[in-house]
Amino acid sequence: IQIEKVKDYSALSKKAAMFIAAEIVQRKLPVLGLATGSTPIGTYKVLRELYQEGRLDFSSVRSVNLDEYRGLSPEDSHSYRYFMNEELFNHVNIKISNTHVPDGTLKEAKEACESYEELIQSLGGIHLQILGLGHDGHIGFNEPSNHFPAKTHCVKLTEETINANQRFFAKKEDVPTEAYTMGIGTIMHAEKILLLVSGKDKASILQKVLEGPVTPDVPASILQFHPNVILIADEEALSLCK
Ligand code: F6R
Repeated sequence: IQIEKVKDYSALSKKAAMFIAAEIVQRKLPVLGLATGSTPIGTYKVLRELYQEGRLDFSSVRSVNLDEYRGLSPEDSHSYRYFMNEELFNHVNIKISNTHVPDGTLKEAKEACESYEELIQSLGGIHLQILGLGHDGHIGFNEPSNHFPAKTHCVKLTEETINANQRFFAKKEDVPTEAYTMGIGTIMHAEKILLLVSGKDKASILQKVLEGPVTPDVPASILQFHPNVILIADEEALSLCK
């Protein structure tokens, strides 16, 4: 894992955007794997600015997102599709038909997952996958477990996650209980991975990811075995690492 240590979140966002921009300009048909969550918001903002300044062209970019809540429609403001439209897609010249997020409205989980894997294959695989890191070491919705799930699959959210998400919804029944997520295998097949980690609250999990054993108890630890991972992390996030 190549470690790029930066001062703070703002520096992280700029550096991450530069890596993504470089990927976009070097490829004829770039395939980006994208993440939601709070960490990449600053990165997407810098990418929007690069586009608005006329320095970056998204017209040939194709994208696949890591995950989506099962049962939420793209119009639902809590869906990850909605998030991506708001934070990035609506503000740059990407063709919306070239952007892909697992379809939360598909009822048949098996089909939904298989078709997403096929889609990624049909694009020729992911050139650059952006990842955030969960406090328990999760990537995508791959939570700690006793194995590394290979492919896109449907996960039941833990009671903890459901309770944590409740604050965003009017009532508990509205909180999604399941999600579709790329598997660890799907993620590991990406040519290059950009892992973004910021803040003190991520320091102890980041230390485990980088210095601990590779174990499905800490799903992101498997990135130690990927030949081309760039970690961009700020000083606070790296404060417990050697
Ligand atoms: C988002 C995703 C999640 C987040 C992770 C970190 O698509 O798959 O794994 O990357 O939960 O979230 P933040 O960035 O909010 O700390």
